[in-house]
Amino acid sequence: MRIGVLISGRGSNLAALIRACAEPGFRGRIALVISNRPNAEGLAIAERAGIPTLTIDHKNFASRETFDAELDRALRAAGVELVCNAGFMRILSDGFVEKWRNHQLNIHPSLLPAFKGLHVHKRALDAGVRITGCTVHFVRPEMDEGPIVAQAAVPVLPGDTAETLAARVLEAEHKLYPLALKLVIDGRARVTDERVVLIDAVGAETPAPLFVPAVQ
Ligand code: GRF
Repeated sequence: MRIGVLISGRGSNLAALIRACAEPGFRGRIALVISNRPNAEGLAIAERAGIPTLTIDHKNFASRETFDAELDRALRAAGVELVCNAGFMRILSDGFVEKWRNHQLNIHPSLLPAFKGLHVHKRALDAGVRITGCTVHFVRPEMDEGPIVAQAAVPVLPGDTAETLAARVLEAEHKLYPLALKLVIDGRARVTDERVVLIDAVGAETPAPLFVPAVQ
């Protein structure tokens, strides 16, 4: 399956997906990495792995819709079948999201539906939660909503700052995203009635999300 990855910055989740695609038996291959920021560090990661990259700078577009139309055109031109948002910091128009319905994944650094949006780790600390984590879900027009494929739990430890907590969650993200992507690529995670159903090796169905226990 041909995957398109959308990034805006550092690209550590992209790096995790690149590593996963190199594993034997992984049936996905990253066909294109698109950044909306010309200086995103993730672009160099893709280039070093020999993956085609493209910058589509949102500042060059008059509207969200024209930017999204160019994104869609580039993904389709590369034969992309599944889009993975990996630290992509643009809100996508409803039209784009609907075109890729059930063919677009996102990773968010919290246990959704808690702490949607930005400054997630500071908000988790301010709220005094003991457990946080990360979520991979299919994308829907509402930000950080959509059927959940997999979640990993991460403890909040005494003395954590937003930075130390972010680093611990990021480590879990790097495990969770490849795992969730593999389920989707292998047809083992399917959306039914806006919930993800997991299908095991003998075809038995269980409700998602796949749960990954706490990463210390
Ligand atoms: C990750 O924490 C991701 O969950 C969030 O933004 C961060 C991106 O990091 N949406 P990276 O660019 O993958 O290193």
